[in-house]
Amino acid sequence: MRFPGGKGKTYQQVINLMPPHRVYIETHLGGGSVMRHKLPAVRNVGIDADPKVISSWSTSGAVGVDLVCGLAEDFLCEYAFCGDELVYADPPYHPHTRRQRRVYSRDYSIEDHERLLALLTSLPCMVVLSGYANDLYRSALAGWHTQTFRAKTHTDVREETLWFNFEPPEALHDSRYIGKDFRARQATKRRLQRLQDRVFRMTPVERTAFAQWFHEAFPRREWSDLK
Ligand SMILES: C[S@@+](CC[C@H](N)C(=O)[O-])C[C@H]1O[C@@H](n2cnc3c(N)ncnc32)[C@H](O)[C@@H]1O
Repeated sequence: MRFPGGKGKTYQQVINLMPPHRVYIETHLGGGSVMRHKLPAVRNVGIDADPKVISSWSTSGAVGVDLVCGLAEDFLCEYAFCGDELVYADPPYHPHTRRQRRVYSRDYSIEDHERLLALLTSLPCMVVLSGYANDLYRSALAGWHTQTFRAKTHTDVREETLWFNFEPPEALHDSRYIGKDFRARQATKRRLQRLQDRVFRMTPVERTAFAQWFHEAFPRREWSDLK
């Protein structure tokens, strides 16, 4: 399924921002290329207001995704958050940044954006939001971190912004896409693979000495919590 603004080519940038989480909630699912490419969480929820979107996910046999046909706003108001959720929202574009008129069967007015932003900034969990920078988002999300990247659309190349309400992560839920582009990802993969091969070739005593050094050199993290 292709959508204007679908994350078909840029899902890696979004996944590279996501700290470990137990529940993953994607509120404007569409083609859901982030949902389809990331490692699943313990629970995965995909929401879309368009019944056609939800039925195409149901018939394509989405395994392990709880599908909700309804408004993102209703779901976020009603869900009992525990704090270990990650919400990813990729709403229709703000009208001032849109180059075509009405591209989805369900579009967002400025009031819809205001309501969504008020909801997202009140959530007691991790939130990532993607879109094009505009004054409303800049002021409503003033305290949030941002990351920008250039993304090809079907007409040109535009700068997309990711807003997120947590510190840039030191650990990722899914580290398979580390690197800002294809070349960087390949280079990182090769570097990690070489390191892993060397650790595999160590004797058990060498490996334990290496692990002891590692824990001493990087004592800040609870390594055992990472999956
Ligand atoms: C920008 S697209 C999402 C693209 C998606 N990230 C992808 O990779 O294809 C927007 C989606 O939001 C849905 N939508 C619009 N308003 C909504 C609302 N209030 N609640 C939930 N979904 C909504 C539309 O039906 C559409 O499928």
